[in-house]
Amino acid sequence: MGNLQIAIDGPAGAGKSTIAKKLAEGLNITYIDTGAMYRALTYKVLKENIEINCKEKIIQLAETTNITIVHGDVYIDNQLVKDEIRSQEVTKYVSHIAQIAEVRKILVGFQKKIAEQHSVVMDGRDIGTYVLPNADIKIFLTASIEERAHRRYTELLHKQQQVSFADVIDSIKERDKIDTEREFAPLVKAADAVVVDTTGLDIEAVVEKIQQIIAKKLQN
Ligand code: CDP
Ligand code: CDP
Repeated sequence: MGNLQIAIDGPAGAGKSTIAKKLAEGLNITYIDTGAMYRALTYKVLKENIEINCKEKIIQLAETTNITIVHGDVYIDNQLVKDEIRSQEVTKYVSHIAQIAEVRKILVGFQKKIAEQHSVVMDGRDIGTYVLPNADIKIFLTASIEERAHRRYTELLHKQQQVSFADVIDSIKERDKIDTEREFAPLVKAADAVVVDTTGLDIEAVVEKIQQIIAKKLQN
């Protein structure tokens, strides 16, 4: 049998990273957070003071930057990056950069390569539709906008970041809009994905639910 491919897609705050990481641990396979790759490139664009509207320069940067994930850690040109790719500034601009088709093709190339070499749980926006269209299992994770924003707000408060709930809701709505409306590989449920609405469900309940979906699919 080839490598196992589990695709988890959905909007911001649905719980993709948290759940995907736990599923991968349980199955003892590789977890790939593709959002972290888009964030890493955005971080580098901002660090190099490249104009956010300068598509050519951003594409050029993507072509010459090596972004990898090893044991869940993200590296830009072999340099480990951590919280810096989760800053509010990166969050603000990442969807703008992720809508550039040429940028996506480069990062998708890295993602496909990893999935060729390892069994993976991969989370993002276009995994089931574009990156791994033949994935063994596809989950579309979602939750109400209020709950997703509330989760993100709680997380930011724990990190002692000063934000208002209204700003968090607006920022998530804006990102969701750009992600679903972009022309190339937008955020959309794959026809063969199972929808899991996590509104009102805690992490353990969601993990259990998806583990059952996986077990059932793999039996067939
Ligand atoms: O903040 P959150 O964890 O929800 O987002 P993320 O998974 O870190 O992704 C950050 C951004 O990267 C998304 O809002 C998308 O614009 C972009 N992204 C994408 O376009 N395609 C992916 N496969 C993953 C992320
Ligand atoms: O990756 P994505 O943006 O979809 O979400 P995440 O970063 O995994 O989760 C956002 C926040 O919601 C984290 O602080 C999780 O601990 C929390 N969460 C939750 O409270 N209940 C869930 N069922 C899933 C996630």
